[in-house]
Amino acid sequence: MTTKPFLETLKGQAQPTPPIWLMRQAGRYLPEYRETRAAAKTFLNLCYTPEMAVEVTMQPIRRYRFDAAIVFSDILVIPDALGQRVSFVPGDGPQLRPPLDAPSVSGLKTEGVLEHLEPVFAALRGLSEALPKDVGLIGFAGAPWTVATYMIGGAGSKDQVDAKLFYYNEPKAFEALMDILIDATSAYLEAQVAAGAEALQLFDSWAGGLPPAMFDRVVIEPNRRIRAQLAERCPGVPVIGFPRAAGVRYEKFVAETGVDAVSLDTSVDLGWARERLSASVALQGNFDPLLLIVGGADMTDAAKRMVDTMAGVPYVFNLGHGILPQTPPEHVAQILDIVRRG
Ligand code: CP3
Repeated sequence: MTTKPFLETLKGQAQPTPPIWLMRQAGRYLPEYRETRAAAKTFLNLCYTPEMAVEVTMQPIRRYRFDAAIVFSDILVIPDALGQRVSFVPGDGPQLRPPLDAPSVSGLKTEGVLEHLEPVFAALRGLSEALPKDVGLIGFAGAPWTVATYMIGGAGSKDQVDAKLFYYNEPKAFEALMDILIDATSAYLEAQVAAGAEALQLFDSWAGGLPPAMFDRVVIEPNRRIRAQLAERCPGVPVIGFPRAAGVRYEKFVAETGVDAVSLDTSVDLGWARERLSASVALQGNFDPLLLIVGGADMTDAAKRMVDTMAGVPYVFNLGHGILPQTPPEHVAQILDIVRRG
């Protein structure tokens, strides 16, 4: 059996050179993505047409030979499956209609979620066949708090104020919503594993800036409960947490959720992470996506420093947040070269 350096790393084995994949590696910076995206007409149609989802997932693998592929989908397919109308307006981001209010929580459609998401599982099965044998396959979902901010805000509301007010003003409905999202997300991730996912990432993009008690309740607890359900239902499959912008609370997140790895956002000092976190989890991240646009010596020197800092610990090279559409594709090739050859 061929070993996969990405999976070995998540299981705690440092590699001679770090495996690499990039968040949003399939996306608008690639001309071949823009072509498939145009043919798909809508973003959700791209997510729900397995042949197209496989194609765009494979594009960056063919072009760069990353060490892991992440199935092409979005965190907002869960609200879509729960019956909220989700659309992506180019230039405007996602829209969820109507925005979720407290009385509507009990009306969410918790039956049939997995049937609705069957195209994602079909894409994973296709990818299991199509991927080179040493490339890992990642499944993913949004963590409940981050998904809830979109459901309640109805859009990518910048400061998550609507969701925070909902948390304070409607504690019962909030708890019911978290329970629904925890169950749906656990079942969804378990089914992704059954379809071929070998590692899972939970994106908690809006974990930053929360009061401590709220962080415990809306970030740590849901991530911990999902991780615990997965440990029972698909033991041995590594889970990567991504409590973006959690700052020093990364430490608490690692200690209390039971994740196998954490993806570090751009703000985290890697020396600190190495010292405080690397004994208990594998680390992933956290190159600045803006440096990937800038290029040149600023980009290559920073990448070399990161690889040097993380030598000898289980570490996956990645960005601190998703790759941006204006990134020159040749800079991505240069980063791979630096990470692999120094
Ligand atoms: O290659 C990959 O990383 C896999 C695919 C993936 C997408 N979204 C595709 C996508 C993944 C893992 C996501 C996660 C996601 N989606 C997150 C968490 C990570 C993060 O970025 O914080 C969030 C918050 C979303 C919600 C979302 N989806 C937003 C806010 C937007 C609009 C902003 C934008 O970049 O346009 C999307 C749309 C989206 N999801 C696109 C892609 C490639 C662009 C839409 C398009 O091509 O028309």
